Amino acid sequence: MLISSSSFLLQLLLHALLVSAWFVCCNASASSPTTVTSPVPPPQMPQGNSSDHMALLTFRSSIASDPLGPLSSWNGSSHFCQWHGVTCARRHDADRVIELDLHSLALSGLVHTSIANLTFLESFDLFNNSFHGHIPEEFGHNLLRLRHLDLSMNSLEGEIPPSLGNLSYLQVLDLARNQLTGSIPPQLGSITTMEKICVYKNNLRGSVPHSLGNLTALTVLDLSYNNLTGVIPPSIGKLRNLTSFNAEVNGLTGTVPSSLYNLSSLVVLALGSNQLSGSLPPNFGVSLPSLQNLSMYGNHFYGPIPSSISNASSLLSIQMLANGFSGVIPPTLGTIKNLSYLQLEDNFLEAKHDHDWRFITSLANCTRLAKLILRNNRLEGVLPQAISNLSRGLDTFLLSHNRISGNIPNGIGDLVGLAFLSLRDNLFSGAIPTTIGKLQNIVRLDFSQNQLSGKLPSSICNLPHLNLLLLEMNHLTGAIPPCFGNLQNLWGLDISDNNLSGSIPKELTSIPVLSVLNLFQNSLSGALPLEVDHLKNLNKMDVSNNHFSGVIPNSLGDCQQLANLNIGGNNFIGVIPPSFNKLRGLESLDISRNNLSGNIPNFLQDFSNLNDLNLSFNNFDGETPKGGVFQNASRISILGNPKLCGGILELHLQPCFGGESKSSYGHALLTTIITSLGAVVWIIFAILCIISLRFSKRKTFPSMVRSKEMFSRVTYSQLFRATEGFSLCNLIGTGSFGDVYKGKMDATITNCKSVAVKVINLQQHGASKSFTRECEALKGIRHRNLVKILTSCSSLDFHGNEFKALVLELMQNGSLEQWLHPAPKDDKYCQKHLSLAERVNIATDVAFAIGYLHSHNFKPIVHCDLKPSNVLLDDNMTAHVSDFGLARFLPNKDDSKNPTNSLAFKGSIGYVAPGKST
Ligand SMILES: *[C@@H]1O[C@H](CO)[C@@H](O)[C@H](O)[C@H]1NC(C)=O
Ligand SMILES: *[C@@H]1O[C@H](CO)[C@@H](O)[C@H](O)[C@H]1NC(C)=O
Ligand SMILES: *[C@@H]1O[C@H](CO)[C@@H](O)[C@H](O)[C@H]1NC(C)=O
Ligand SMILES: *[C@@H]1O[C@H](CO)[C@@H](O)[C@H](O)[C@H]1NC(C)=O
Ligand SMILES: *[C@@H]1O[C@H](CO)[C@@H](O)[C@H](O)[C@H]1NC(C)=O
Ligand SMILES: *[C@@H]1O[C@H](CO)[C@@H](O)[C@H](O)[C@H]1NC(C)=O
Ligand SMILES: *[C@@H]1O[C@H](CO)[C@@H](O)[C@H](O)[C@H]1NC(C)=O
Repeated sequence: MLISSSSFLLQLLLHALLVSAWFVCCNASASSPTTVTSPVPPPQMPQGNSSDHMALLTFRSSIASDPLGPLSSWNGSSHFCQWHGVTCARRHDADRVIELDLHSLALSGLVHTSIANLTFLESFDLFNNSFHGHIPEEFGHNLLRLRHLDLSMNSLEGEIPPSLGNLSYLQVLDLARNQLTGSIPPQLGSITTMEKICVYKNNLRGSVPHSLGNLTALTVLDLSYNNLTGVIPPSIGKLRNLTSFNAEVNGLTGTVPSSLYNLSSLVVLALGSNQLSGSLPPNFGVSLPSLQNLSMYGNHFYGPIPSSISNASSLLSIQMLANGFSGVIPPTLGTIKNLSYLQLEDNFLEAKHDHDWRFITSLANCTRLAKLILRNNRLEGVLPQAISNLSRGLDTFLLSHNRISGNIPNGIGDLVGLAFLSLRDNLFSGAIPTTIGKLQNIVRLDFSQNQLSGKLPSSICNLPHLNLLLLEMNHLTGAIPPCFGNLQNLWGLDISDNNLSGSIPKELTSIPVLSVLNLFQNSLSGALPLEVDHLKNLNKMDVSNNHFSGVIPNSLGDCQQLANLNIGGNNFIGVIPPSFNKLRGLESLDISRNNLSGNIPNFLQDFSNLNDLNLSFNNFDGETPKGGVFQNASRISILGNPKLCGGILELHLQPCFGGESKSSYGHALLTTIITSLGAVVWIIFAILCIISLRFSKRKTFPSMVRSKEMFSRVTYSQLFRATEGFSLCNLIGTGSFGDVYKGKMDATITNCKSVAVKVINLQQHGASKSFTRECEALKGIRHRNLVKILTSCSSLDFHGNEFKALVLELMQNGSLEQWLHPAPKDDKYCQKHLSLAERVNIATDVAFAIGYLHSHNFKPIVHCDLKPSNVLLDDNMTAHVSDFGLARFLPNKDDSKNPTNSLAFKGSIGYVAPGKST
């Protein structure tokens, strides 16, 4: 032990050295100037207007950072009309700037008022930079020739200047994705040339001005993701050329003006997530021949969905979920040939008689149907065989939470494109059709909470991508087919609460990714397979209330990812295996109602995450520990073990007397020697740490979150609410794999109120993999210098697209990058500099984290992307390493015979190690 701990110290020192070296390098690279500030000679070119020249120079001087360097061409050696992004034209015998296009150049700084002196400017584009500050009011007074103004995707604040209403030639006004506040100025309604207004993703409030109805040339009006209130002005219905009206995610109230439903030019009508109400007119859709996207989700609409909706025959996507729609689903939807998303879940839609299901027959004509989501309605009766004629491209078919009865049609097997199929919580009976073996693309199959009977069909074993198989709460009988071991991608298996019998086939232990195994409430018997230790990712196992017998296999202690273990209500005998000592991540352990005996092992009191321990109704004897979880009588249950003694007073046990049986005395002596030896080592280690580190007070290991919920974790809508609709003002960072938002969550979902939500950009190649890697890497590890995952979300968003996010602890002090290379607007970081002591502390923290990852985790992990932006600082300036998107597990020594894939290029340029990593 001494030897291993001193080698650990050595490693720590090495890591600290490496990290500090890395620091010095970082600092060196930071000190190389990023902004060029060479003196500028006075203007020499006579034909250029000197006022324009001055204005450009003043604008440039207000730009604080130009990392890509395009503005270095803005100097005296060339005429300003040749400068990057500048376009001139001859006006009144002088070259005047008519266009300034600086989009996507990573510029930051203020939008200087001097731009207003470019009086001939027609087009100004700063899209996708980091400009901050206000939009100068002078634009509206001087830039009277402006046609195109695009300031979107910056960090602009303040209000939209009403003076912009003077720009009487303006055609495009794009201010989206900023942090603008205040209301939309009614003055914009006087710009009759206006064709496009985009102000989505700001913090605008107030109502939508009536005057916008004067903009007869308007084609696009996008007001989504703001905080607009009041009604939709009926005048909008006068905009005969409007193709896109998007008001999603605001606080709009009232009914939708019927004129809006008559705008035949509309291609996009998006009203989702407001507080709109009313019913749809009987001729809805008749005057919307071009409509492609209809979004009405999350409002208070009610009444039937008119059949006339099928006259809107260009529709691609119908999202009417989460309203109060009732009546039957129109049987004419099939005329919408290209319909690909039909989302009607969370309404009161009915099907009582067979002919109410005709919509399924009709939908067979929609050959591009990809998502059909009808969950949580009032559908009853028998699911028609005609489902087999639905599009082969259907990938999501969710009918859960209805009252559908009868057999599951055999034809379900013909929907070979299905990835997600859920019939959960219905009244389906009969056997599971063997034809589901044809669903070669299925990822999640959920038939739980029905009245299915018969055996588990072995055709399930042919589903190579199956990730989640949920069949709980049915009346299934027979044994678990051994061929379930073929399901090599199975992450979760829940067949609890059925009438299954037989033993657990040992083949089940050959599924490397199996993480959740729920078999409780069946009639399963036999012993637990000894090979259970092959399930290296097992996180939750519940086999309670069965007839299992024999001893608890010692090998179970090698499932070191286990957080929840329940083997209660069986016939297990023997002792709690000593190997359980290794299950340090346990959060709950239930071994109640068995015939277990022996002592309660003392190591249980050292499990810092254990907060739920049930040992009741066994034959345990000896002294009850008093530390750890045993300190709190409400977290443990030891009832029905008459031979136990000691423990804390609240347990009301007999006091223990000295005379213990000899065998347990010897055992105790050994344990005492080992623990005291361990204690000595730890004391030495602690002293060394204290001396070599600092005297500052740091947080101790915070306890892991208890996730009672198994599969659902946290839902999209919870995250949507927590981040205020993924509002831009909550955006705190953008990484290669997606955006990070700060958010406030209900403390019952996570222990923290403030969290960081990392939304994985699934469009990005490899992002899904990165999510899995990060989950995998962070799942089993706990260290105070690593950012903790609180929970995760893997579901569908309001548009039915796949959505994955991680919920992490929010680090109040941002990233180390922000401290080392502060962006000018981050005032907080400009004020302060890191002291030497803080730098050393951060370096040691990072070293601890990396040391832990490399040497003290059960499987060494290489981070692969360690850089200042991935080191986050909490309130106490304690560093936490984050972003495990590229992390890799190193092969164990015994795996080394089959070397893993050669390392492709991974990491950030400037931080990857040169040459091949080991
Ligand atoms: C790091 O760089 C900054 C600015 O580039 C400088 O002010 C600071 O003194 C440097 N610190 C160290 C430890 O070199
Ligand atoms: C430059 O433009 C300004 C403003 O339009 C004007 O007052 C000035 O006379 C112009 N100068 C030249 C040299 O054209
Ligand atoms: C803009 O024009 C005004 C009035 O012509 C002048 O006073 C001011 O200095 C100019 N600003 C710049 C930056 O050129
Ligand atoms: C613009 O709209 C407002 C309100 O709808 C109306 O009172 C006003 O007369 C309109 N102005 C013009 C120029 O059409
Ligand atoms: C509406 O669009 C049509 C066709 O693009 C165009 O001819 C007409 O001028 C537009 N109306 C207005 C008021 O701009
Ligand atoms: C939106 O407005 C309402 C009412 O004015 C206010 O309570 C709420 O906090 C606002 N939300 C945001 C995100 O600004
Ligand atoms: C669907 O197509 C069939 C023929 O392929 C046709 O008879 C039926 O009327 C169509 N239904 C709808 C609703 O378009």
